[in-house]
Formats: sequence, C-alpha cells, structure tokens
Amino acid sequence: MPRHPPNRRARPVTTFGAVSCVAVILLGAGVAGRQDDANRGRQVFDDAGCATCHGPSAKGGTAPELVGTDRPYPDFLRVVREGIGEMEAQADGDVPDEQLSIIYEWLVQSSSNRIASDGATDTP
Ligand code: HEC
Repeated sequence: MPRHPPNRRARPVTTFGAVSCVAVILLGAGVAGRQDDANRGRQVFDDAGCATCHGPSAKGGTAPELVGTDRPYPDFLRVVREGIGEMEAQADGDVPDEQLSIIYEWLVQSSSNRIASDGATDTP
C-alpha cells in the first residue's frame, strides 16, 4: 500500500522586515547627502594636499583661488595631472581621479551657492 510522502508545504520566508529596514537607511542617507557632499569635497581637497597651497576653502593661499573655476573638468584634470607653472603634477597614486571629480564638484558648487564657505574660518 503506497504511503503518502510527508506533506512539506513551502514556508514563506519573511524577508520583508529586513528589506524595509534597508530602505529606511538609504532614504536617510539621501536627505543628508547634500551637505555631506560639501563637507566631503572640502575634506578630500584637504587630504589631497591641495589646501596647503590653495587655502582650506580653495579661495587662494600661496596659490590662486580655485572656487568657481571656469575650466571644464577635462581641462582641470589635465592641469592637475601635468602640473602648471609652479604647481607640480599630481600623480594618480596620490590623488585618484574619483577624488579629483569630488573636488571639482565641490569647487563648482561652492561658487554657485557658497555652501562650502559660509561661516567657515580660513584658519585651520
Ligand atoms: C605646492 C603647492 C600646490 C599644491 C599642493 C597644489 N597646487 Fe594647484 N596650483 C599651485 C600654483 C602655484 C598654481 C598656479 C600655477 C600658475 O598658474 O603658474 C596652481 C594652479 C592650479 C590650477 C590651475 C588654476 C587655473 O585655473 O589657472 C588648478 C586647477 C589647481 N592648481 C588644482 C590643484 C589641485 C586639485 C590640487 C590638489 C590635488 C592642487 N592644485 C595642489 C600650487 C599648488
């Protein structure tokens, strides 16, 4: 006499809780992102050593102001990689392209709404 196989109904795995949790975290990051971008740009600019000569807000020091540069990005990139006048070429190993694009965004944004320089002191 045939025996019925044990009745194994698939149990739904409840991943919903975990998924919505991740969504909330991502949403929060998006809201905070704008100001973070500005701070990040300034930080990267500092870390890359640019601030030493161009000033912490890129408004000029021993080297000229860079905020609101009218160079298009490819030109900016070339200047940094090849050097210009007194400025030595900055190698990819020291300042990778992705850092330069963050810096560039920050320079352009700083000039349009001054978020990066408002209320900040230029003394470290
Ligand atoms: C050792 C000092 C020094 C450091 C460090 C330095 N610069 Fe410069 N930079 C200069 C000087 C000086 C000039 C002006 C050169 C000239 O025109 O003769 C200049 C010019 C530039 C220019 C061209 C400005 C223009 O439009 O004519 C850009 C862009 C620039 N620097 C970006 C950077 C970035 C980005 C960094 C960091 C990765 C950096 N610099 C680090 C000294 C420095």
